[in-house]
Amino acid sequence: MDPTVLTAPQNPAIIPPAPKVHASPLGGSALGDLRIVWEMGQNLVGAWSEEDFDNLVTPYRFMGQPGLVVSDPAGVRYVLTSPNFRRPVKVGRPLKPLVGEGLLLTEGETWKRQRKSLAPVFTPAAIGGLVPHFVAAGASLADRLAGHDRANLSEAFHHAALDAVLRALFSRRADQDGALLADIARRYVDGPAHFRFLDFIGKGLDDLTFADGDRRRLGGRWLAAVDTIIAERRAAPLPGDMLDRLLAARDEDGRPLPGQEVRDQCSSMLAAGFETTSRLLFWATYLLALDPAAQARVRAEITAFPAERVASLDDLKAWPLLRSVLFETLRLYPAAPTFGREALVDTEVLGHPVPAGAMVTISPWLMHRHRKLWDAPTAFRPERFIDQPHPWGLEAFIPFGAGPRVCIGAGFAMAEAQIVLASLLERFEITMADDRPVIPRASITLGPDHEPDFRLTPIVQAQL
Ligand code: HEM
Repeated sequence: MDPTVLTAPQNPAIIPPAPKVHASPLGGSALGDLRIVWEMGQNLVGAWSEEDFDNLVTPYRFMGQPGLVVSDPAGVRYVLTSPNFRRPVKVGRPLKPLVGEGLLLTEGETWKRQRKSLAPVFTPAAIGGLVPHFVAAGASLADRLAGHDRANLSEAFHHAALDAVLRALFSRRADQDGALLADIARRYVDGPAHFRFLDFIGKGLDDLTFADGDRRRLGGRWLAAVDTIIAERRAAPLPGDMLDRLLAARDEDGRPLPGQEVRDQCSSMLAAGFETTSRLLFWATYLLALDPAAQARVRAEITAFPAERVASLDDLKAWPLLRSVLFETLRLYPAAPTFGREALVDTEVLGHPVPAGAMVTISPWLMHRHRKLWDAPTAFRPERFIDQPHPWGLEAFIPFGAGPRVCIGAGFAMAEAQIVLASLLERFEITMADDRPVIPRASITLGPDHEPDFRLTPIVQAQL
């Protein structure tokens, strides 16, 4: 696949950039394994070969350990719903100092209880109540960009997504008293959040953490900052945000959530919610900049129903194409491109043996571009989602995962992304200020290989 080909001449569909696909699999020998480690260190989505986009199940051995890549929807469903698997420990190691014992990392009965107590915070009615926060975050982003004819939107969306989640959680803003959290979040994402060699060999969340001083220091400051906000809010309650609902939540015995749990859940929402959604906003804007005709059609929807009029989740129905663009973005550029499960017992997947301790890799990146699962898998065709009311239940579409540990914030992320993107598109026509293709590069989330400048033309001016 040539990343520089943005359009196929005989076909008007946009084929957006992607990393090179290797002609043959990289592993299979000690040298091949080292090559995989190197390639994946550079880019988690850069080690796939042509046959991975044709095979639905691929057994492999990596560093002597057996594993399985599963893209078959029935196999994926089994792995994500069966109690025979759990989220691998190494995934949690970089995050633990930041999110403590929150929903992201807990297991078993503790996870079950937490998921139940958080459910009321994420119902459609509760997310609907957060809409004014998303509208304010979108307007604030558009105001900040006003007067600039070009901008680094990757950075702008990072700030906007953190702003949106801080407003929704705490009624705070990223440029005011949320600034400390914004600063820590950015520093954590740029450094301690990356996987280290010891993350791969440590058996538990707290093993071999002697080299993690930076994680502990930054994580400690983060948790202390979240604690301070919660303490202030306990003293002066403010209705209408997620913290308000968390403080009101009661367990089965009618007791409020312990203070540390409230803090860890808030930290988990911040950590899981802002980086992923900022990536979604970035890639959607990039795709619309590559496809001006689609951008114009989306803008027509927004002009007919501007972002500032949105008062409920129902109002988002006015923008079916914008929603489809976001789904097509999550298909082509899934913010969480790869996740996995570790077998707890000897089992099998679609007839392939999986011994206890083996890893099963599930890659939305691979599934969403799989030649047996999609028509024109590499093309940007938002219309494919237009008649799908809940596409992330679709078999081959798993940007938010699936099964009991499916993303609890999917509805939150979709509402936020629609409103923030609409706020931007109604104010600016957006094109690329830089012709270099933007190649996706993944560490934990799927980011761009460089942060390009976008050109912003105020809409009034564009229409003159
Ligand atoms: C585009 C945005 C987002 C994407 C693509 C995304 C993706 C995912 C995926 C794939 C998982 C499951 C991982 C696995 O099964 O191993 C997950 C879990 C989770 N997400 Fe999201 N997420 C997004 C936004 C959010 C937001 C906005 C929040 C909170 C406000 C959030 C909170 C969580 C939490 C707490 C979990 C763990 C759920 C559990 O284990 O029970 N996410 N997310």
